[in-house]
Amino acid sequence: MDITSLKNTFCSLFGEGGELFAYASPGRVNLIGEHTDYNGGVVLPAAITLGTTIIARKRSDNKICLRATDLPDYVEADLSCLSAYKNIPWGNYQLGVADILLKDGVPVSGCDLLFHDTTPHGGGLSSSAGIEVATALCLYHMATGKMPDMREIAKVGQRAEIEYVGVNCGIMDQFASAMGKENHAIFLCCKDLSYEAVPLFLGEYRIVITNTNKKRSLITSKYNERRGECEKALGDLQTAMPSLSCLGDLSPEEFEKNVHLIKDATCARRARHVVEECARVKESVNVLKSGDLASFGKLMNDSHDSLRDLYEVTGEELDTLVNAARMESGCIGSRMTGAGFGGCTVSLVKGDSVDAFTENVSRIYTEKIGYAPSFYITSAGDGGRIL
Ligand code: GLA
Repeated sequence: MDITSLKNTFCSLFGEGGELFAYASPGRVNLIGEHTDYNGGVVLPAAITLGTTIIARKRSDNKICLRATDLPDYVEADLSCLSAYKNIPWGNYQLGVADILLKDGVPVSGCDLLFHDTTPHGGGLSSSAGIEVATALCLYHMATGKMPDMREIAKVGQRAEIEYVGVNCGIMDQFASAMGKENHAIFLCCKDLSYEAVPLFLGEYRIVITNTNKKRSLITSKYNERRGECEKALGDLQTAMPSLSCLGDLSPEEFEKNVHLIKDATCARRARHVVEECARVKESVNVLKSGDLASFGKLMNDSHDSLRDLYEVTGEELDTLVNAARMESGCIGSRMTGAGFGGCTVSLVKGDSVDAFTENVSRIYTEKIGYAPSFYITSAGDGGRIL
């Protein structure tokens, strides 16, 4: 839907009049660097061209009213008691952002907001980060008239998710959504938020995202369990390496020398994945800069295998997609993207092979799993912005 039709929809839902504002922020696909962000490691996500658009208008009272183009829900919340809405089925990301901004002293005012989301919900492409970042940008800009530092907006989104929604996530998704750049990936160090936009010279290759369409359950508890295992591994390593502050700081060589300190074998496997994945991210940046897509594809494959065997967050659906993708001659790399346990894979596929790829992967997946996957052929797009 274009902005004019969205504004018309806004007026038919909330009434005519007043000045309308528009904001957008995308979802993301992580190219490589999975489960490294909350370990102070490095990641390489890109913003995608699917995302959230908001049409907004100030109100004269203290209410924040939310609607969406694809949902029947209507949320009317009082800005003076935002903690009352934490468990509503839709709207908690938005109200969480308002809550954090108010706590930070931003004079958020009452407003009507219409959300238009094109990122599939719950599909592992961070539709939630797109909503959080677009909302934070919108509320901040309407309150102050200024364009914020988008890195701060990313942090507000992450805090809303941790402190309000209750998901103990890292910073990758919100950072990619806020800071994405067209035709670039974002090489981010999650320890100090230093970053570099890395040009994606994909030539004849396309980024193909495939959604398992699996209904995910228990993902939050499994995610938090992995975080706990990494913290345990770090604690054991710190007994002999007191200055080590996160697993992301370890080189594979240092890890080999010290892995015996980690008492539990499962925690040691999780930590090995994190350390080796960070090394793969750094190597990916080098090969991408030199245009060596074949080597990057191999690193993507290694990343998936490590997430399957060491980190154990893939599962039958993601593995089936990746195995089918790798059988295609036009595909040079395929891996799960995001938290795992369902969600999406990302594959690099030659442009003239994309049709055969989607047809064959879809057939094999449907035969084995019993329902069809969905495909999105996307490119790296811009991050959060005022429209
Ligand atoms: C989810 C989280 C991110 C990151 C990934 C795994 O998307 O929101 O912070 O931890 O999982 O890499």
